[in-house]
Amino acid sequence: MAIQSTLSLALLGLFPSATAQRVDGSKYNSPTGGPPASYFAAASSIPVAVIQSAAAKASSVPSLATYPINTDKNSPKSTIHDDWVKFRRGAALSWVADMDVDCDGIDYKCAGNGDGQPQTNWGALAAYEVPFIVIPDTFLAANPDLLPGNNVAAVICHGKMYYGILGDSNGDDPELTGEASWLIARTCFPDEGLNGAKGHVAADVTYIVFTGKNAVLSSRALGKHYLTNFTTLRTRGDKLAGALASHLGLPGETARPRVTSSPVATTETKTASATEDAASPPNYEACSWADQDEGATCSSDDD
Ligand SMILES: *[C@@H]1O[C@H](CO)[C@@H](O)[C@H](O)[C@H]1NC(C)=O
Repeated sequence: MAIQSTLSLALLGLFPSATAQRVDGSKYNSPTGGPPASYFAAASSIPVAVIQSAAAKASSVPSLATYPINTDKNSPKSTIHDDWVKFRRGAALSWVADMDVDCDGIDYKCAGNGDGQPQTNWGALAAYEVPFIVIPDTFLAANPDLLPGNNVAAVICHGKMYYGILGDSNGDDPELTGEASWLIARTCFPDEGLNGAKGHVAADVTYIVFTGKNAVLSSRALGKHYLTNFTTLRTRGDKLAGALASHLGLPGETARPRVTSSPVATTETKTASATEDAASPPNYEACSWADQDEGATCSSDDD
């Protein structure tokens, strides 16, 4: 309990220890003892609803992008969109689907998992400890440049956004989409008793995989089995998601009328016009991009 409170305070920045969320992953490798949601949740400054609604409206379809979400004959289909893939920062693929539980890797014997494999695509991750998402094999194989593996990813569920990595692929027949690690699934839907045999059925989860330069998590924060530095994941996630949001059609970008010297303008409006440039998009990035290294600070200059 005491340890827990200390970690929460560290999250709030009250104890700005750089090592606060460097973890020994094996200590969190249990079905109900995984890392708390706060370790991989997006900062409150990220406009989650804006990203979610933009993902719902995405329309650009790359090849081999559509997959069923379950094994029913008439399963709904989910399509991966690449509208955002050319963004200079925060480039990403997105799709909306249900959420099945993947336990592949060292926790492959998780409850309900009859057909697990001891490996994941780029290691043998611990599904209880690592927030990871899954993409269909065929799409992965067709996009090696965009998806080298261990890309930072995000899911939006119940209006909350969590970061993770692209950790595994689905090679079922047919290949299914809408799948995330035990940790993500049970964090998103804590009241649904999810396990290897029981997924979240509604196709109301937004998945985002960042694809651009700087999107891949380094081996300093991620080992073969465990995510070892949650601060790195969150910092990088907030940077990428903030950059993505800055590209989308956001309040600051829609023609906010420049305030003229109308005598009826309120003080509030005048303040707004004085401090914001209506022509420049809002900037949700937590830090600058000058230093992508793990030790990047928020004070270094932009590129
Ligand atoms: C964890 O990551 C943060 C942010 O990237 C970094 O500042 C910190 O030094 C890292 N901690 C360790 C022990 O590597």
